[in-house]
Amino acid sequence: MSLRIGIVTETDPATAKARVQFPDHDNVQSFWLQVLQGKTKSDKTYWMPVTGEHVVVIMDKGEEAGVIAGAIYSEADAPPSSDPNVHTIVYGDGASLTYDKGSQTFRLAVGGVSVEISPGGVAITGGSVTHNGTTIDDTHTHGGIVPGGASTDVPD
Ligand SMILES: [Fe+2]
Repeated sequence: MSLRIGIVTETDPATAKARVQFPDHDNVQSFWLQVLQGKTKSDKTYWMPVTGEHVVVIMDKGEEAGVIAGAIYSEADAPPSSDPNVHTIVYGDGASLTYDKGSQTFRLAVGGVSVEISPGGVAITGGSVTHNGTTIDDTHTHGGIVPGGASTDVPD
């Protein structure tokens, strides 16, 4: 077995394979290599590297078989956090999924919308909020009520 660090040059998303170039091995390019996934039977995970991504490749002794074990950060591509309490996935379009053990907060963000869950409760910011297609956010109104100074009771 040998371990190599290379740069992804081509991907085949349909078969979850990629080719890798090895700068410290005369820039030789690999054959199509499987990209290691967490699960592949009835439970499945799927996440492909992209062209230019730095990856670790495990090759067998004869270098006839190999697998892309995962991606690594580099000078060009820095980690999205420096806090060991943070577990995060940050997507290329800006969406993110983060849990911060320090503040005990889950945060899910897409575009200008975020949902935060913490011991204090749930906070939804941006966008509209619906339940079964009905708007229940801070813009919704109630029928059959005469406007006035009083507040309603809490729901039954
Ligand atoms: Fe309401």
